[in-house]
Amino acid sequence: DWRMDAFVEESVRAIRTKVGDGKVLCALSGGVDSSVAAVLLSRAVGRQLTCVFVDHGLLRKNEGDEVEAVFGPEGEYDLNFIRVNAQERFYDKLAGVSEPEKKRKIIGEEFIRVFEEEAEKIGAVDFLVQGTIYPDVVESGLGGESAVIKSHHNVGGLPDYVDFKEIIEPLKSLFKDEVRKVGLELGIPEHLVFRQPFPGPGLGVRIVGEVTAEKVKMVQDADAIYREEIAEAGLDRELNQYFAALTNMRSVGVMGDERTYDYAVALRAVNTVDFMTAEAAEIPWDVLKKVMSRIINEVNGVNRVLYDVSSKPPGTIEFE
Ligand code: XMP
Repeated sequence: DWRMDAFVEESVRAIRTKVGDGKVLCALSGGVDSSVAAVLLSRAVGRQLTCVFVDHGLLRKNEGDEVEAVFGPEGEYDLNFIRVNAQERFYDKLAGVSEPEKKRKIIGEEFIRVFEEEAEKIGAVDFLVQGTIYPDVVESGLGGESAVIKSHHNVGGLPDYVDFKEIIEPLKSLFKDEVRKVGLELGIPEHLVFRQPFPGPGLGVRIVGEVTAEKVKMVQDADAIYREEIAEAGLDRELNQYFAALTNMRSVGVMGDERTYDYAVALRAVNTVDFMTAEAAEIPWDVLKKVMSRIINEVNGVNRVLYDVSSKPPGTIEFE
């Protein structure tokens, strides 16, 4: 696409002029927007860029390793990559907390703490990169990967916590579909470019009630099975968002001759234009049945699978 090609060239030139030999810091979430922003910066200023990726232990199954494979030392981009494995810190902070807004606040604040510590270690940062896109500018509050950073810094104000001179927002004039085109132009893998939205607080808002490492494992495994079967059925590009959540409900079931008393997983899939309103998608029954049977057989601690048919409104897309 010549327009995207021109955009990349022009952005690289503008970034070089602006940054000079300054040091640039980027909070990388692995979402589309922050990934595209990072690669653009890397192309412009290479090792002057450091990307910090915080694994808060609330990512989808294998997601941390997938992000590291693309952006880490084994990947093909010229940048400094720091992965912070902060799982335990987040789980400790979340222990015993079940109120949704409190959970969100803890996750947001802890994210800032971790990021701030890394920024201090790097020292003397001149520029901070944000993956802000045009819809974020005109109408904040939209779901989307860019919001991963946005929601965090909405909570506590990320830029205020890190000492830097100026902010760089290279995608500020682009719509989502243009960001994806730029991503493809930059050679970013398709699974990242076409990734579905994932909330900043991650699985924290997909585990109803208290978050524990065991529950994270359950929802990760159930979600991985669901996503695998959705892709297998060829529905992955068609649905706007789909995921498994762990309800806080335990109920009686039977496995072999054994009585069980385990958790219920809820499956969600929605079609939406703007994520402000949404309809539950009509997933074929045979697909749902296969997912149900695999989850119950393969995920320890789960004995029931429910399908969420709620629209938004009155439901929200996420569970908390
Ligand atoms: P709800 O649950 O409000 O979600 O219907 C609408 C869209 O926004 C995403 N979402 C978030 N994204 N940080 C984000 O970056 C958040 O805190 C957050 N909460 C919800 C959600 O995945 C959906 O796409």
